[in-house]
Amino acid sequence: MAMGYKLLGVDLTEVSSLDAALNLAGLSWDCPTLVLGEVALCYMDPARSTALIGWAAERFRDSRFVLYEQSCPSDPFGRVMTSHFASLNSPLLSLSEFPHIQDQEQRFLHKGWKTCRALDMNEFCASCVPLPEVQRIHNLEPFDEFEELHLKCSHYFILVASQGFLAEHPCLCPVPERCTEFEMGPRPVPSGSLAAVPFPVPVTGLRRFGHRSCHMASHGVVTTGGFGEKDGRHQRWAATAFSYPSLRRKGHFGSRWTFFSNSSCRGGINLGTCRRGLHSESDADEFTA
Ligand SMILES: C[S@@+](CC[C@H](N)C(=O)[O-])C[C@H]1O[C@@H](n2cnc3c(N)ncnc32)[C@H](O)[C@@H]1O
Repeated sequence: MAMGYKLLGVDLTEVSSLDAALNLAGLSWDCPTLVLGEVALCYMDPARSTALIGWAAERFRDSRFVLYEQSCPSDPFGRVMTSHFASLNSPLLSLSEFPHIQDQEQRFLHKGWKTCRALDMNEFCASCVPLPEVQRIHNLEPFDEFEELHLKCSHYFILVASQGFLAEHPCLCPVPERCTEFEMGPRPVPSGSLAAVPFPVPVTGLRRFGHRSCHMASHGVVTTGGFGEKDGRHQRWAATAFSYPSLRRKGHFGSRWTFFSNSSCRGGINLGTCRRGLHSESDADEFTA
C-alpha cells in the first residue's frame, strides 16, 4: 500500500462531516487534487450531490473532478436501466434532475467549476483512446456484440471539471491520431437508397432495440438497424421504417429513402451521429434533419 494512503468511511451527503474527516486525516487542501466519482453520486439525493460538487469547487483550489455515471433515462434502454437499479433498491436519483450530459456540465459550471466537459462513452472511446490501446483491447478476446456495447456506452458518460491552474489545460481532447474521426466533412453526397416501410403513429408493430432513429423535422421518424421480434423470432432487423404523424401524410411521402454519407460518418449509416444523414427522395431539402 502507498505510504500515507488513508481510507475514510464518510457519508458524502454530509459535506461538513466530510470536510472535518479530511482535515482530521491531514489532507493538504492546496495540493493539486483529483476528485473521482465513479457511479456513486447518482445514488444520492441530487440536491446533496450538487452541494458536494459545489463544496469541492470551493475547497480545492487546483483540482479536477472526474465523474463517470449514467445518462439518458428516458429512451427504451434508459427506462430498463433505471427500473433495474430501482428494483435493486438503489434508484439512480440524479437522473431525474440531470438526465443528459449537458445538464451535468451545466450543474458543475453553476456550482463554480471553471471549465467542464463531458463525453458519452462512445465519443470518449472513439476520440480519446489512443489507437494502440484500442488495438490492445480488441486483441484481448474475440468480440462481436458492438450494438449492445454502443447502446450501453451511449448511456454512460465521463465528465471532467477543472479548477485553478488545471483549468488552463484542456481535457477530454481527441488524441491527435484520432482527430480525423470528428472532423467536419464536406456536404453529404448520396451513397445509395433503401426501401422504407411506412408506419402510422402510434406504431404498434415496431418494437426494436439497438436501432438508431432520426427525427425528420416535424414529418416523422426514420428508424434503421437494431433487433426485434419478427415472425415469432428475435432477430436482427434489416428493414428501415418511416413513422409519420398521420395517415393523411402517407401518400405524400415516398417509401424509399436515400442515404447520404460524408467523411464524418464512420461505418456507413449512423443516424445518431450523422444528423444530416437522411433525406426523402421527393424533397431532399425539406427533410434535412
Ligand atoms: C456502484 S458503487 C461504485 C463503487 C466505487 N466506484 C468504488 O470503486 O468503490 C456505488 C458506491 O457508492 C457508495 N455510496 C452511495 N451513496 C453514498 C453516500 N451517501 N456516501 C458515501 N458513499 C456512497 C456506495 O457505498 C457504493 O460503494
